[in-house]
Amino acid sequence: MIGELWCWFFQFLCLNLQVDLRDKPALENVFAETKFDAVIHFAGLKAVGESMQKPLLYFNNNLIGTITLLEVMAAHGCKQLVFSSSATVYGWPKEVPCTEEFPLSAANPYGRTKLFIEEICRDIYSSDSEWKIILLRYFNPVGAHPSGYIGEDPRGIPNNLMPYVQQVAVGRRPHLTVFGTDYPTKDGTGVRDYIHVVDLADGHIAALRKLSEANIGCEVYNLGTGKGTSVLEMVAAFEKASGKKIPLVMADRRPGDAETVYAATEKAERELSWKANYGVDEMCRDQWKWASKNPYGYGSPDGTN
Ligand code: UFG
Repeated sequence: MIGELWCWFFQFLCLNLQVDLRDKPALENVFAETKFDAVIHFAGLKAVGESMQKPLLYFNNNLIGTITLLEVMAAHGCKQLVFSSSATVYGWPKEVPCTEEFPLSAANPYGRTKLFIEEICRDIYSSDSEWKIILLRYFNPVGAHPSGYIGEDPRGIPNNLMPYVQQVAVGRRPHLTVFGTDYPTKDGTGVRDYIHVVDLADGHIAALRKLSEANIGCEVYNLGTGKGTSVLEMVAAFEKASGKKIPLVMADRRPGDAETVYAATEKAERELSWKANYGVDEMCRDQWKWASKNPYGYGSPDGTN
């Protein structure tokens, strides 16, 4: 759901439109036909490794798409935006929890696109105070819709932990490779702040509500639970939820990985009246519901659809 979204708008879903954000004339048509109060912009490429191989693809898609969107929004007097940023803008944090005031850096081209877009948004607001912009820094979104009908279906080999675990559980892959067992963490494996996708979605509703307040300017909020969970703890939670054993192969650290990243959540709680409700057990329960109903995601075992 939050996975690899090509260039389209969430809002366009209800209009049944798919538009490449870089296609300015097509975007102009959409804004000419419908008056939007606000835009939630979470279109973008998001694979860290791919961004290192193909930086221009990431700069072209993520940056040009966003700039074109902002230009068209401004031209049509729509100056309220919620943007999907990422905890990746904290780089390798020196301490945790990460507060919104931490220094920002980018470890790869994907992260740089998030950082650049944040800076672009701050500049736009500085130049025109009619804009209201909320930048949401996602931590690690996992899980699926509790119905079991909507979930993440990455193309190719999953980059992220939980889609990979899911594919092992349904028998599509033989084992999970654990990247790094010698981190100075509770069990030696990397620690992250996993957040249920439903909580994440609610965070966007809270942000939209916030946009209705006067003078919010360009504000940034972490969307996380404030809790750190290790790779082995996540695997154990998924095994419990699914009743499946996940075979593990212990390996070296993945280059570029931070050891521990989790969010400070107070600002979002205070100013958005939003707080994550679900823990890792619910994330794994709902992800297993999706996986067991749809072991091949939205496709078929032979990959023909
Ligand atoms: N991991 C494994 N095996 C795998 C995949 C991941 O052990 O097959 C480990 C990683 O080493 C890390 C943890 O699981 O310790 C989480 O890794 P993910 O790839 O799921 O997530 P990351 O925290 O590395 O990256 C995520 C997003 C990025 C974003 C970043 C922000 O995928 O887009 O959070 O902090 F930039």
